[in-house]
Amino acid sequence: MLCAPAGHGANRTPVSAMTNYDQYDSLRPIEWRGDHLRLLDQRLLPATVAWLDCRSVTEVADAIHALAVRGAPAIGIAGAYGMVLAAQASSDPADLVTAAQTLVQARPTAVNLAWAVQGLLASAQSEGHVDPAALLLRAQSIEREDLAANRHMGELGAAQITGGSGVLTHCNTGSLATAGFGTALGVIRAAWAQQRLSAVFATETRPWLQGARLTAWELQQDGIPATLIADSAGAHLMSTGRVQWLVVGADRIAANGDTANKIGTCQLAIAARHYGVKVMVVAPSSTVDLAMANGRDIEIELRDEAEITRLGGQPTAAPGVRAWNPVFDVTPAGLIDAIVTERGVVEQPAPGALAQLLSP
Ligand code: MRU
Repeated sequence: MLCAPAGHGANRTPVSAMTNYDQYDSLRPIEWRGDHLRLLDQRLLPATVAWLDCRSVTEVADAIHALAVRGAPAIGIAGAYGMVLAAQASSDPADLVTAAQTLVQARPTAVNLAWAVQGLLASAQSEGHVDPAALLLRAQSIEREDLAANRHMGELGAAQITGGSGVLTHCNTGSLATAGFGTALGVIRAAWAQQRLSAVFATETRPWLQGARLTAWELQQDGIPATLIADSAGAHLMSTGRVQWLVVGADRIAANGDTANKIGTCQLAIAARHYGVKVMVVAPSSTVDLAMANGRDIEIELRDEAEITRLGGQPTAAPGVRAWNPVFDVTPAGLIDAIVTERGVVEQPAPGALAQLLSP
């Protein structure tokens, strides 16, 4: 079912056009510096705020793979600037193709990376030559449009939330994961600015601790009070009635609404359905993969066992213990109450609804 943009819902509080979001939006994780890309190194947060300079495609791909930059929209933007670096290094179209392959292979699940990189490659191919200045304009426009989309989704998503609600979020979907403001965390920022929220809870998000290290820090930077919970406390929190919405981002949304997101999202959505908590997925249209009919075919990234068997450089399991580390899962569309994109909101996603929303 499609739903009208913010402010038109029958029982929803209208969005205030006067709400000032800037005070809740201070972080930017990606900077283009003319001849290199500067990334806020998310491996070190929150203990250390340090920037990583990437001067080649390989350095950008390594930064994406190592999670120095992470979050679906952010890796798309970083990948786009990686293509600019490739174009600055060589005017041979074959080198640009190789660069695109290197970048796309850095992480498989979030479609935004391939979407951005292949978009720049296709534009160079249609021009017939490699023009770094033209690719830079495209990369900058991807970054600018992502920020604008996030601000808009913030309002659309906040309009779904009735005043006095508590929300739970998973992973990090904020400024750090995007050009700025965030997707699910953008909705939380907007809803907080509109004084709709009674409480914000964030999961730790093991094994990489995106929630504890990044989301809690990011909200703290912007003065939005949040309470951290262990991942295993999600269902119990829902049982207490303190949250009315689970608000999450996405790495890839299939045509039928099945949504790949950080590992643990699916079990939170199952618990949410059990306890009557609504589930909102917030993602730009660049995260929707209409070529994928459903979530079964989405490639789930498997990462190093050491992310599970070690914490902060220290072993947490006995030597020789094996681990399995899929870092995303797929939440079936049937467990999702609303998918919020910058183009509008799909409620109770059914096959065809996303294609209809995103049709030109
Ligand atoms: O492994 P990560 O940290 O890149 O995973 C990030 C997520 O799963 C996010 O929820 C998703 O990319 C949306 S970010 C706006």
